[in-house]
Amino acid sequence: MTQLFKAIAIMIIVLAPTSWAAAQSDAPAQAEKTWSLVLHGGAGTISRDRITQEKDAEIRAKLTEALDAGSAVLKSGGSATDAIVATIMVLEDDPNFNAGKGAVFTWEGTNSLDSSIMDGATRNAGAAAGTSTTKNPILLARAVMENSRHVLLSGEGADQFSREQGLEQVDNSYFATPSRREALERFKLRQNAISALGGDQLAQDQLGRDWRFGTVGAVAVDNEGNIAAGTSTGGLTGKQWGRIGDSPIIGAGTYADNRSCGVSATGAGEYFIRVGVAHEICTRLRIAYETRPDFSETTTQDIADSVIAEMGDLGGSGGIIYATPWGQIGYSFDTPGMYRGMASSKGDKSVAIYGDEE
Ligand code: GLY
Repeated sequence: MTQLFKAIAIMIIVLAPTSWAAAQSDAPAQAEKTWSLVLHGGAGTISRDRITQEKDAEIRAKLTEALDAGSAVLKSGGSATDAIVATIMVLEDDPNFNAGKGAVFTWEGTNSLDSSIMDGATRNAGAAAGTSTTKNPILLARAVMENSRHVLLSGEGADQFSREQGLEQVDNSYFATPSRREALERFKLRQNAISALGGDQLAQDQLGRDWRFGTVGAVAVDNEGNIAAGTSTGGLTGKQWGRIGDSPIIGAGTYADNRSCGVSATGAGEYFIRVGVAHEICTRLRIAYETRPDFSETTTQDIADSVIAEMGDLGGSGGIIYATPWGQIGYSFDTPGMYRGMASSKGDKSVAIYGDEE
């Protein structure tokens, strides 16, 4: 018994300083609060020779403002959902982007908006397609997610739900801008010429490789490690017959899952729908993360790049932004440029436009 007591006493003496030291170092090492945010304002044939220096500066300032709006939410401990909504609203309110004010025109000369949002913690989601009076479509997507039993509402019904939710309504003319009207006129001239030659009803340059400006979106990871992703767009210039793109389609233009990543897409929506781009990236990433012993940050980028390449192989074009629960944020696009930006609790902050920028 004496021997046993001695042994225990010796163990206490030997281990005590170690345990104390561990306890001391554990205290400040409490889980560090981290957050990250990534946004896009559309991808396409965006190159230096197509944008004036003034427009370049204006776009960068607005991307920075949007990044700051979302970062402020995350810095103060707000949720990823609040952060992406704050980010996207700045872009929806700015006429430079094809979402909210400044959305492209339908063939009939109206503006028809699509939006979606997803919460990676619960995999709850909301979306609205073909709306015409809700000032900030991302708020409507959020209301569908949080206050309805549905995921996707469309057309007048979606706007009616929006009114019932008390969201700000505007006349459809609020969204119109002269430059988007000119783009519609140019599109109609080209489309009529294609039709006269017996061509496809949809001008191929809208669906294929010469595609310019689009959609806005954001993905955030908050201090709790929850991911949210959201996307908002006016769709394609001259769209007809109630055409809906990928942006309000959960899994195509938007996806979020705390087990893998959040994704928001921009590009030729038909191809993003066919590939299910956002879900495809998240699923491949989850499986790789769970099963591959060699998993690294390169794996994430490789997966994003290969899904974009597969979408491109079908004839589409565009890009995505992603954020993971382990703090990785990034982009993948096959176009000459993509309006984009990222910020995190590490102090990184950047915006970029052209493909050759970091
Ligand atoms: N990516 C936007 C759209 O195709 O509508």
